[in-house]
Amino acid sequence: MNSFLKPVSVLLLSFVSLLSVDTFAADSKGTVFITGANRGIGLSLAQNFAAAGFNVIGTARKPEQATALKDTGARVEQLDVTDQASVDAMAQRMAETPVDILINNAGIKGGESKDMAALDVENMEWVLNVNTLGPVRVMKALFPNVQSGERKMVVNISSTMGSIERNTWGCCAGYRASKSALNSINKTFAVDFGKQGVTFVVMHPGYVQTDMNEGQGNITPAQSGAGLMNVITGLDASDNGKFYDWQGNDLPW
Ligand SMILES: NC(=O)c1ccc[n+]([C@@H]2O[C@H](COP(=O)([O-])OP(=O)(O)OC[C@H]3O[C@@H](n4cnc5c(N)ncnc54)[C@H](OP(=O)(O)O)[C@@H]3O)[C@@H](O)[C@H]2O)c1
Repeated sequence: MNSFLKPVSVLLLSFVSLLSVDTFAADSKGTVFITGANRGIGLSLAQNFAAAGFNVIGTARKPEQATALKDTGARVEQLDVTDQASVDAMAQRMAETPVDILINNAGIKGGESKDMAALDVENMEWVLNVNTLGPVRVMKALFPNVQSGERKMVVNISSTMGSIERNTWGCCAGYRASKSALNSINKTFAVDFGKQGVTFVVMHPGYVQTDMNEGQGNITPAQSGAGLMNVITGLDASDNGKFYDWQGNDLPW
């Protein structure tokens, strides 16, 4: 190459690579993976993140019925968090896909009996399986994806019901324990993997009008999803191990 063309082509190449970086940033703010995204708070999270320019991957136990989730433009993945084969198949399909923000949202409510004789221990076991071990299965399966993401952020949707300090009115032993245990595991992972640059946060979404409480909440899924997204997109490594509500307030353990 002659001495005049060489610097010109170097300049041209730098310009093209600058352009491609800018194009990527403008196209997507990153990839968010949300479990239980076909209804309730998960669906609202998917709608909010998609509208804000993120790539959304949302899970549903029955993807063929997840029309509202599909309408957001999200990629829909089949996932039952209690079924290891379903988790493994999802992880295989996700191989090579970096995840910037993993949100473990899928959950169930469980029994509400305050009558010791009527306490349903099998139901408690199931609630712990879905709400505590479910997120653990997903965190384990997608850890490599989170590590290869830019933000390296894991958000576990917990509840103030999991706060032992806030438990002044009892009820719902299985549900409370499932969220307290999730809080504990989140903290352990924050300590163990924070050094590897991965941030783990637990969040209370508010008391939200969803199927879980027969629409009895005091905020809408849209308010919860927007608030959660606002807090989540502002998180960084300094938030590792924290417990926040949907408005960013610190919560007691
Ligand atoms: N609503 C509230 O006031 C409130 C308050 C505090 C915390 N939370 C927490 O917020 C999260 C979302 O609750 P929500 O109110 O949006 O509940 P929801 O409307 O009942 O939705 C629950 C979601 O979880 C999914 N799910 C349930 N079992 C699953 C499993 N085994 N595998 C995969 N997905 C499963 C459901 O899928 P299907 O449609 O297939 O059942 C659905 O997408 C939960 O973790 C809940 O504990 C809610």
